[in-house]
Amino acid sequence: MKNSLGIMGILIIGILISINLSSCTTNKKVASSEEPTGSQLWAGNCLRCHNMPPPNAYSDADWDAITNHMQKVAGFTTKDINKVAAFLKSANH
Ligand code: HEC
Repeated sequence: MKNSLGIMGILIIGILISINLSSCTTNKKVASSEEPTGSQLWAGNCLRCHNMPPPNAYSDADWDAITNHMQKVAGFTTKDINKVAAFLKSANH
């Protein structure tokens, strides 16, 4: 009796977890179908390794060099890093 209650408990927990997992998957699909903007990529990624320098800390030419370097350091795709660079250069003056 004790054992079968334990198995029921595990089954119920399993069902609850699978309901939760499927709702997460649905959310993810919605999120990933939208392309992130340059400012979202910047806010979401550049803080991972260091403090975020404000866009006006560097000139356009500096941002070109820095984002080019950060692409190699952090493995951004060319498309994503170009969006970040465009955002930084639009926000620094
Ligand atoms: C994987 C970790 C990582 C991520 C993600 C990352 N950086 Fe960096 N960043 C570094 C490291 C390490 C350094 C310092 C050493 C170096 O220059 O390689 C650095 C240095 C910098 C500097 C200073 C450059 C200088 O000349 O003093 C700036 C500005 C910068 N990062 C901007 C960014 C921006 C903007 C992003 C997002 C597109 C970003 N970083 C994402 C690791 C990262």
